[in-house]
Amino acid sequence: MDDRSFVAAQDVILDMKKHWTTRLYPALKAEYAERAAAVGESPQTRQQVTELLGSTTSYRYFAWMERHLQRMKYSGRYGLVPYHHERAADLRNTLPDMSGESRLELDPDFKNPVYYETVDVHQHPGGVWSEPTAGFVYERGARSTTPMLGARHRDLHGRLTDRAIRDGIPDRMLDMGCGFGKSTRPFYEELRDTQVEAVDLAAPCLELAAADAAATQAENVRFRQMNAYETDYDPESFDVVTSTMLLHEMPPEEIGRTFDECARVLKPGGRMVHLDFYILPDAFAEFIHYGHSQRNNEPFMVPLVEMDVKAELETRGFTNISIEPFQEADGVDVENSPFWRFPWTIIAADRP
Ligand SMILES: C[S@@+](CC[C@H](N)C(=O)[O-])C[C@H]1O[C@@H](n2cnc3c(N)ncnc32)[C@H](O)[C@@H]1O
Repeated sequence: MDDRSFVAAQDVILDMKKHWTTRLYPALKAEYAERAAAVGESPQTRQQVTELLGSTTSYRYFAWMERHLQRMKYSGRYGLVPYHHERAADLRNTLPDMSGESRLELDPDFKNPVYYETVDVHQHPGGVWSEPTAGFVYERGARSTTPMLGARHRDLHGRLTDRAIRDGIPDRMLDMGCGFGKSTRPFYEELRDTQVEAVDLAAPCLELAAADAAATQAENVRFRQMNAYETDYDPESFDVVTSTMLLHEMPPEEIGRTFDECARVLKPGGRMVHLDFYILPDAFAEFIHYGHSQRNNEPFMVPLVEMDVKAELETRGFTNISIEPFQEADGVDVENSPFWRFPWTIIAADRP
């Protein structure tokens, strides 16, 4: 496929996603309010919302668009996967030779945890790990994951960075589940005196992350292929541990193990800050989020929101726990957004 057709098709898909976000979602919400008013009481549970809305044409249309726009984006006629596969050799040639580089450490014998290979998360065929262009596909796809943020998507990571260093600049920090380095970059760029370690399971993403760091000549970062809940770092070796959009991609047991690992590698008084999708303010938000989990192939999103994270952290002895909504960009109404948005939430706690 030629570049022009690919770009045009992806632009159309993105515009349709904006339409879905800014028109279909508010229309669905308005219909919900009307139906709730007609029965005289506000639904308290997701099941009640389903009874009101689940078989309406507007919900089916909304749901169909959500599922199939994502499918078209990744694997349609002009999808990200066929486009990048056709160019696999050229794309690989754009990566610098990183052998002998301290910025990248891959493990040729690495074994993924079972949960990771059982589902094509985000409807990305083969996931972000299974073939050499997967990092490029994910990088291109992530540009339109939050269609309303556009170029401001970068702000999201900058905001998390500010939040994570609010109480002091770390000497050493760890970014878990760093992907292709988008969440790690503001840390190593802003904190030149901090040693930033970043781990992920996906070699094709880590390669991109390290190439990016090399391009900016950052010397204070290292990308390593490692499981977030089974790292080889020494106990008490970090001041700060972060993750962005990692927890909702793990089953509950692995989330618990990740909190254990944070407790192990944090210095006493160290802080962990996770940015994920957690606080659902009402039954309608729950209905939408549970549906998204199914339609976008995100099976672990639901167990995360059903988990009592505060209790999990207390059990492990964490203190100063804060679980609060996170404003991903200026002007976003986190309590009652008129447009569709993820339920961004900060989960932060200190190791005593
Ligand atoms: C949604 S992506 C987020 C990437 C990055 N933090 C960002 O904000 O762009 C989630 C990442 O978590 C990684 N991941 C999932 N399970 C993991 C685990 N057990 N250990 C390390 N990384 C993991 C995936 O490979 C993926 O790159």
